[in-house]
Amino acid sequence: MKPNFSSFPLYIFFILFVSSFIYVPIEASNLIEETCKRCAQNDPNVKYGFCKTSLQAAPASQCANLKGLGSISIKLLRYNVTDTRCHIKHLLKNKKWDKYYLQRLNDCFELYSDAITTVKQAMNSYHDKRYDDANIQISAIMDDSNTCEDGFKEGGNSTSSPLSKRNENLFELGATSLCILMNMEG
Ligand SMILES: *[C@@H]1O[C@H](CO)[C@@H](O)[C@H](O)[C@H]1NC(C)=O
Ligand SMILES: *[C@@H]1O[C@H](CO)[C@@H](O)[C@H](O)[C@H]1NC(C)=O
Repeated sequence: MKPNFSSFPLYIFFILFVSSFIYVPIEASNLIEETCKRCAQNDPNVKYGFCKTSLQAAPASQCANLKGLGSISIKLLRYNVTDTRCHIKHLLKNKKWDKYYLQRLNDCFELYSDAITTVKQAMNSYHDKRYDDANIQISAIMDDSNTCEDGFKEGGNSTSSPLSKRNENLFELGATSLCILMNMEG
């Protein structure tokens, strides 16, 4: 009679194989939810829904670990900055603005141009594990979005900023990135 032990490792292998499929996606999607929940609890600038939707919509985020999520959040930041700079360029080109708006839009264009440089630096810092530098750079980008938005509120003038939604998105994405960084530092 042949001993049956060769089927035993196979059986173990099968369990591991199957469970790796079941276990990993659940764990990873929980990671987004858990991270966003923790961030929303600890930082009033992070909104759970926004954090979760943004991260989940990003390619490959379901399989990412915390380090990967951090990288994804900075990439989202970069797309946001780039897209908004392009949008402002468009606004300046395709519409006649009065002096008040023109000046502020030009200021925002400059702020977003700087933010592009800064977000590239933040990505490099992050990949080199210089998390303190990344923290400073991401904070600077959040300041840029605030400064842009505040420009439209100057002199008690509450005329609406044409960039409110975008500035807000950028700020919230920045806050999400910062919170992930904080979690990585322990
Ligand atoms: C900025 O990022 C947010 C969150 O990922 C997204 O909902 C929004 O569409 C982005 N905006 C732009 C202009 O890319
Ligand atoms: C307020 O904003 C409007 C925008 O149309 C502008 O015409 C006006 O000059 C602004 N007033 C002040 C005090 O900046």
